[in-house]
Parts: sequence; C-alpha cells; structure tokens
Amino acid sequence: MKFSVTAAPITQDKARLRVVGVFRKRKLTRAAETLDEVLDGALSGTLKAGESDGDAGSTLLIPAAAKGVPGTVLLGLGPRKEYDAKRARKACRTIAKLLTERPGDSAALAIAELVPSDQDLRWLVRTLVAALGDAAYRFDAYKGKEDVQPVRLQRVDLHVNEDQLEDARQACQQSEAIVAGSNHARDLGNTPPNDLYPEALAESALELAKQHRKLKVTVLDEKDLEELGANAILAVGRGSEHPPRLVALDYRGAGKGEAPIVLVGKGITFDTGGISLKPGDAMDEMKYDMCGAATVLGVIKAVAELKLPLNVVGVVTSAENMPDGRASRPGDIVKTLSGQTVEILNTDAEGRLVLCDALTWVERFKPKAVIDIATLTGACIVALGHQTSAVLGNDADLIDALKKAGTASHDRAWELPLWEEYQEQLKSNFADMANIGGRPAGTITAACFLARYAENYPWAHLDIAGVAWKSGKEKGATGRPVPLLMQYLLDQANAK
Ligand code: BES
Ligand code: MN
Ligand code: ZN
Repeated sequence: MKFSVTAAPITQDKARLRVVGVFRKRKLTRAAETLDEVLDGALSGTLKAGESDGDAGSTLLIPAAAKGVPGTVLLGLGPRKEYDAKRARKACRTIAKLLTERPGDSAALAIAELVPSDQDLRWLVRTLVAALGDAAYRFDAYKGKEDVQPVRLQRVDLHVNEDQLEDARQACQQSEAIVAGSNHARDLGNTPPNDLYPEALAESALELAKQHRKLKVTVLDEKDLEELGANAILAVGRGSEHPPRLVALDYRGAGKGEAPIVLVGKGITFDTGGISLKPGDAMDEMKYDMCGAATVLGVIKAVAELKLPLNVVGVVTSAENMPDGRASRPGDIVKTLSGQTVEILNTDAEGRLVLCDALTWVERFKPKAVIDIATLTGACIVALGHQTSAVLGNDADLIDALKKAGTASHDRAWELPLWEEYQEQLKSNFADMANIGGRPAGTITAACFLARYAENYPWAHLDIAGVAWKSGKEKGATGRPVPLLMQYLLDQANAK
C-alpha cells in the first residue's frame, strides 16, 4: 500500500472512494461540504433521507453516480464536542476495515478536520496509517490460491491543509516504516516452526543486513557458543535437531563514539517445555515464542529504513526447546557465560536461560541502555491480560520513557515492581540460583533472574507473553511491541 500526502482539495482527487467526516446531527466537516457542493447536494440529501446521523462508528457509502466518478464514504464521528482520541482511533479502525474489504484499489481521505481535541495531526496520521496497515495484513503464503482474498487497496491519498503538510508527510513516512517493521515481525511469528528454526531466524537477519548498507551482522553458531561459554543457551537447545544461534545486527546511524541502545529478543522458535513437557492444549501457539526476536528484527528494519540518527544493536538469542535423550534435565546445573551457575529446576523456564547469556554478551557493546523483549511468562497474562506488556528494570528513567512511548503509540506497558525481596524465591541449594521462583509473582521472579545478568548497564525488560499474538478465530502475530519501541527510538532521536 502506497500513501501520499497532499494539500490539494479532495474534490479533485480521482481515487475510487473519497472519505470525508460527518459529526453527529449531520454536521458536515468543511471537506464534506465542498464535496457536497460538487455532487449537487448528494451527501446532505442522503443524510437528510435519514440514512445516517453521523453517529460514531457509522459509515455511509454513497456510490458513484456514473462510471469513472469516485464514490463517497461519510465517516461518522459522533458529537463534535466528544470527539477525542478514543473516538478518532475508532473512526480510523472503522474506515480501515471498510477500505480494505472493498474492491476499490485507491482511496482519498480528508483528514485535516479529523484531529481530535486531545491529540495532534501527527498522532492522527500515525493512528490511521497503523490501522490501515493492520487491516491490510495477510499471512497466506501457505494457502492455496482459491482460499486467498487479496486486499485490493493499493493507493491512499491523505488530504491535509497547507500548514499541516510538513508534519503529515513526516508522520506518514515514519508510520509506513513502523507498519513494515510490524508486518515483518508478524510474518516471522506466523511462519510455522518447521520452517522457522534458529538457523532460519539467523538467515532472516542476514537477509535484512543485505538490504541495508548501515547494518552489520554477526552470527554465532553452536561451535562459537561453546568456545564463548554460553552454556545456558546451549543447554536449552540441546534436545533439538536445530542448534542454537546468537545474532547481532549492528546499526550505526550516529557517530562511532556514541553508545548504542541494545535490544535483545527471545527467539525460542518452538517451546515444548522440554523434559518438563507442556500440556498439549494449544501447544501450536508456542511457535510464537520467538516474537521477542521477531520484534527486534522488525524494529531494526524500520530503524534502517528511516535512517534514524542513532546507534542501535538488535540481538536475537535463539534455540528450539525440545525433549530428547540429549535434552537438559530438571536438576542439571549449568555455568552461564557470566560465570554464575544455575540449577535448571524446570526446563520450561528456558527463556530466561537464553536471555541471561545474551545479556552478558551484550556488555561488549558498552550500551547506553539494554531492553530485552520476551514472551517470558504465562503469569504475565494472568496479571495484565492481552492488552498490556509488563515492564520491569533497574533504571526508572528508561522504564518511564518506555511507558510513555507505549501510551503514545497505543502499544502500552505497565510497570511491575522488581524489589530485592523477590530475589529470595530464586534460591537454590546447589547452585548460585534456580531458574524458577515458584507460583507467586512469576513475571517478577523471571525478571529478578534476568536482573542478575544486567547489573552493568541501564536495563529494562518487556514481558510480551500476553500481547505478541492473538488466539482463537483471529489467531496470528500482532507485531507488538514494534510500535512501542519505534516510538521510544523516535523520541530518543528527537531529543538529540
Ligand atoms: N514461553 C513460555 C511463556 C508463555 C506461556 C508465554 C504461555 C505465553 C503463553 C515460557 O517459556 C514458559 O514456559 N514459562 C513458564 C515458566 C515457569 C515454568 C516458571 C510459565 O510461564 O509457565
Ligand atoms: Mn517455556
Ligand atoms: Zn518459552
């Protein structure tokens, strides 16, 4: 889908559908009024006939009067006084659904007057482009042709006022990159686990590096990991035919001397639980246990496309967690890359094991901040459901910046405490720590484990177990939290 931003009047746009807003009690926006004049009162006439009142969430399609003339959609916005960000987001979703379900290949939207009272134009553009990107996403690479219903919409023109042009163009360009990054993450997440194993995930990082000159890629294979002493990552991958990988994508958009922001993604391409085998119900969804890694790759793609003036390193720590004669057992003790030892009491708490070695390894980048992203605990879903990521860490400013970015992008995160007292739950009789902390506060004790490997830099952890994918009829990866992290990075770039 291609977007363009223009200050030309919508009446001149020849797209298949022209979309204008109408407030409650049939109050046409100015754009709707000018279009109404050109159409000899067709819009106000249809409204008067009682077909719609401009209620929030309503749409009224007025077909083209003749071949080659565009049709019109009146997008209901509700009462003008109540038109806020919530309403605007809903209107964006409604119109995105309508436009992507119709046969037309192009659409023009008059958005100058759709900016809600509590937000600005950039927000509106971001929200609209994100909604269209989401509605147009399909994953049908594995389906037969007869089952595939392609989205026809190819071109979207956003009509704004002259003085909004610059802001709208920039926001649109940024949003398109974020949508592309999210979709990349979604594709990786949705790919079946027989095709997406650690080597394949590393391969997709190499592919990204080929497309962008400013990306440098490093892939550590199982031999490299052995030499390094990354025994925790190796322990998780031991039961699989597909050996683990540790990957770094180094993006340098700022000066050489500037410390990078490092993103570390959990890339368990399939989590059976290992010898501590999971119950069979919905186990297929454990192909999504690499969504943290997918997020990192999606973010790096978007950062490289936007040429952000930042240094960002994306790290993927990947293994397949399988039961096998060679697999790790409950009771095994491994010496992690940091030198600390871990008693693996449950092989299903494998995410923290692949992450801990990666968190030690990234010290070599002398990071300004490290953010890890992981589908880490079922307990996170119990605590925050499917709306909200959990954020924990050792640096209040970093956590606040992430929360703020989440709110702005509507990809929200909420903080859980990481108090010292919880560390007690990780005590082991035989090693420096156990890899599980019992039933209470599962998300917090998992973060406590990671904190022991992240002491040498500002660090935050995002538990995305509840938000990375949807189950049920709409099963599929969401691409979250690419929007949150991109907003954070854009904020960082703006603050320079
Ligand atoms: N990948 C899972 C967490 C998960 C489960 C995410 C379900 C989304 C949905 C993780 O590796 C795991 O199995 N965690 C265990 C930890 C426990 C053994 C301490 C869990 O949450 O049950
Ligand atoms: Mn697990
Ligand atoms: Zn897992």
